Amino acid sequence: MEKIPVFIPNIGEDTKLHVNDALDIGWLGMGSTTMEFEERISKFLELKNRYVVTTNTGTSALHIALKLADIGPGDEVITPSFNYVADHQAIKMTGAKVVMCDISDENLGIDCKKAEELITEKTKAIIPLHFAGIPCNQKEVFELAKKYKLRIIEDAMHAFGTSIDNKKIGSYGDITCFSFDPVKIITSIDGGCVIVNTKEEVEKLHRLRLLGVDKDTTERYKNKRAWDYDVLGEGYRYHLTNIMASIGNSQIKKIDEFIVSRQKVCQKYNKAFQNISEIKIPKTNFSNVSPFIYSLRILNGKREDLIKHLQSLDIDVGIHFIPVHKHKFFQNSKRGDMAITEKVVKQVLTLPLHSNMKDEFVNRIINGVTSFFNNLKKD
Ligand SMILES: Cc1ncc(COP(=O)(O)O)c(C=O)c1O
Repeated sequence: MEKIPVFIPNIGEDTKLHVNDALDIGWLGMGSTTMEFEERISKFLELKNRYVVTTNTGTSALHIALKLADIGPGDEVITPSFNYVADHQAIKMTGAKVVMCDISDENLGIDCKKAEELITEKTKAIIPLHFAGIPCNQKEVFELAKKYKLRIIEDAMHAFGTSIDNKKIGSYGDITCFSFDPVKIITSIDGGCVIVNTKEEVEKLHRLRLLGVDKDTTERYKNKRAWDYDVLGEGYRYHLTNIMASIGNSQIKKIDEFIVSRQKVCQKYNKAFQNISEIKIPKTNFSNVSPFIYSLRILNGKREDLIKHLQSLDIDVGIHFIPVHKHKFFQNSKRGDMAITEKVVKQVLTLPLHSNMKDEFVNRIINGVTSFFNNLKKD
């Protein structure tokens, strides 16, 4: 039987043609193709008076977003422990302290009441995550940030294309970060971006992205170098190259097709599992969600047995996430009560989800899960 992986990249002949074209330009580093990718992202997210700066990873996007918000030693930044460790490492890179918060049982996003209890005079920013592409309680995050004058850096890595009240995440708010890593809905192999509200912030991000050098982005976007540059501050080497951006361009052209196909699979999963009392399905019909992963919860303590059953059927599964406070490097970081996180991590299971996924795969997965629970009844 053909093995079903959790993720499969959707790379076609069109992507190869884009890469060939980018190679033919003869300018491999950051350049006009990078600018084109930024323009396409802006168009897709329907940005008005908000601006895109691409980066070489989502993690570097988070890092320069934090630097832009002036986060550094002595500051505290709150983010869920139920998150990928990239956020916590990015906070540490600035010299600030990581403060880990619990999540809400409803959408596995940050619990703002518990977050409020963790706020001190040192708290400067909050990083909410839209887990699996499903919106967190964003309105509460915005209210909390307003009350305590915090910067919001949205980790929207999982939610490229998700809308809240008919507006795409990233098209409003404070700072938003996305990832285009190999398994995301669209990929540039590795890549990411930061979305901000002012051109002044764009300038700062350009310098943070490229070794503190001024003028360079403007020139490189014409596939040229600036020779009379100055260095105005701290900076990293985080820019996205023409070659990576060419892959991103080929992918973003197909994003609507990718999202619709993934929504359909998630809707099929939800329908197939909704009456299994031992399963908690995501609480959404996916109509406004751009689903990165399909994560459900197994409530009867039999998750490991289900994993074995699915593996015996050549179906791979994932676990998102091991909470970050469980990792050695972060076990002593400041954190609040983790009651929901501790419960949820024993329940979550990620089923395979691909763009334009084969029906045969979807049916095998649905049969694999339902047969497991039917067998339990017979025992
Ligand atoms: C929630 C979350 N935040 C941040 C990142 C980091 O993104 P990247 O892999 O592009 O550095 C990821 C990547 O998997 C993620 O899932």
